[in-house]
Amino acid sequence: MTYRESLQLQSGHLPVRQGHLTDFPRDPLGCMRSLHSEFGDIAVLEDQGKRIAFVFSPEYNRQVLSDSRTFHSQFFAIRGGRQSAQRRVTSGLLSMNGAEHRENRRVMMDVFSRRILPDYHSVICDLTTDLMSDWVTGQQRDLNCEMVDFMVRMTSALLFGIDDAHDALELGSMIDRWVRQNHEVGIGALVSAPQFPDSYEKLLADAEKLESSVQELIAAHKRQPTAAHRSDVLSLMFRAQKTNQQLTDEKLVGHAALTFAAAHLTTAHTLSWTLFLLAQHPEVMNRLAQELAAGTTGRHPTFAELESLTYLDWVIRESMRVLPASSYSQRVCAEAARLGPLSLSAGTPVIFSQYMTHHRPDLFESPDEFQPERWSEISPSAYEYLPFGAGPRMCIGAPLAMVELRTALAVMLKQFHFQMVPNTVVDGQIISTMLGPTTSVNAHLLNVSQSPQTVPVAGTVHSLMQMPASARPTTYQRAA
Ligand code: HEM
Repeated sequence: MTYRESLQLQSGHLPVRQGHLTDFPRDPLGCMRSLHSEFGDIAVLEDQGKRIAFVFSPEYNRQVLSDSRTFHSQFFAIRGGRQSAQRRVTSGLLSMNGAEHRENRRVMMDVFSRRILPDYHSVICDLTTDLMSDWVTGQQRDLNCEMVDFMVRMTSALLFGIDDAHDALELGSMIDRWVRQNHEVGIGALVSAPQFPDSYEKLLADAEKLESSVQELIAAHKRQPTAAHRSDVLSLMFRAQKTNQQLTDEKLVGHAALTFAAAHLTTAHTLSWTLFLLAQHPEVMNRLAQELAAGTTGRHPTFAELESLTYLDWVIRESMRVLPASSYSQRVCAEAARLGPLSLSAGTPVIFSQYMTHHRPDLFESPDEFQPERWSEISPSAYEYLPFGAGPRMCIGAPLAMVELRTALAVMLKQFHFQMVPNTVVDGQIISTMLGPTTSVNAHLLNVSQSPQTVPVAGTVHSLMQMPASARPTTYQRAA
């Protein structure tokens, strides 16, 4: 407990704000920033006896994230009835706790073992080359839209072995829509919104459609003669079924749907933000281009070459620090708990935030600036820098995500550089825990001998981080 918090406790002035719980989902970042500046590292929003607690420091992150007995994960507020499709498709790691979580995580850790990562390298290279097949120098592209579609294809190929772009987009959009609906309906349930019953029915109906699509996918996959030798995640889960009878087909549906949901937009947003940041920081792009030229051969760098690219690693780490795709997450008190000066009753949600932690000036100098070079000097703890979470529920796909990001960026940047279209409006917003661009990120394609120039852009991205002076907006032209 800090000195400020012990004074609060002694004086009986606890860090509690009376307000509306909807203040948080309406503007997660604004709400967290104002609670942090008013109360410090721990705060509560209270509305007619209902509370949400917020923690903002590495020490509180540690207390909440390392104690998975007291602080349970409850990613999905709406689980549906026991026999419902909604219950089955929300039954993946993200919604499990206790022994069930430990057991299922052990099985999934085997599936996601580092040993298989090199097998994915050529798929990632080929899909990235395919993405660029109709890119031409001088063209204008919306990087946000391109990366979201690209990562649907990539995630479908790596997780489910789906090669067909149309099938991938169909399933991917269905899962993304359903995740978003869960978030909206979950908030509706929390605040008893009048439209809640209708949207709840729709959510249940969509969960049924999603379940049958994933069931069909699993059945089709099992029929393929090559299933025994494939290395997509679903095929590895089939093999895990042979030694683990508890991993039934019904459980596979939940794991498959939730793993896709956890993997898709997180990687897509990270790629969009990284390309945007590189376009607006030419000195970083130039140093990275030098490293790629000196450290890799051919259009598709080898797995070993990619692992040795230190500067590329710093760029990705820094991008995930300053604009973390997973910008907050939550736990729920499984029992009454003491946290700093607060006594929390069972059922109280506790929010921790990567964005808030990564922007603390006591942890990172000039925290709002994109400075990959800082990584030559710093080595933050697991609770100070946590783009993939920390503790027993840390992202199981983090090593795979890093291979995807490293490989896709290297292959793209060996063929094209990017320069933002002047006065593009780049808005960023947290939707369903994820911070991503919500507008087009329009960039011109340059050839690799050209260095990009920083150009003025407008939009809420300026409230998320500090851009170079020449990136500040001159005229504010919202795209039609
Ligand atoms: C840049 C990309 C990614 C980011 C930023 C990210 C971030 C995270 C974070 C922060 C958590 C922990 C959430 C919490 O503690 O509440 C998490 C969990 C998880 N992630 Fe990722 N993730 C990424 C990519 C992936 C990929 C590629 C996969 C799978 C292929 C994946 C699968 C999962 C799963 C299954 C969990 C739940 C783990 C558990 O509860 O035991 N993620 N991810």
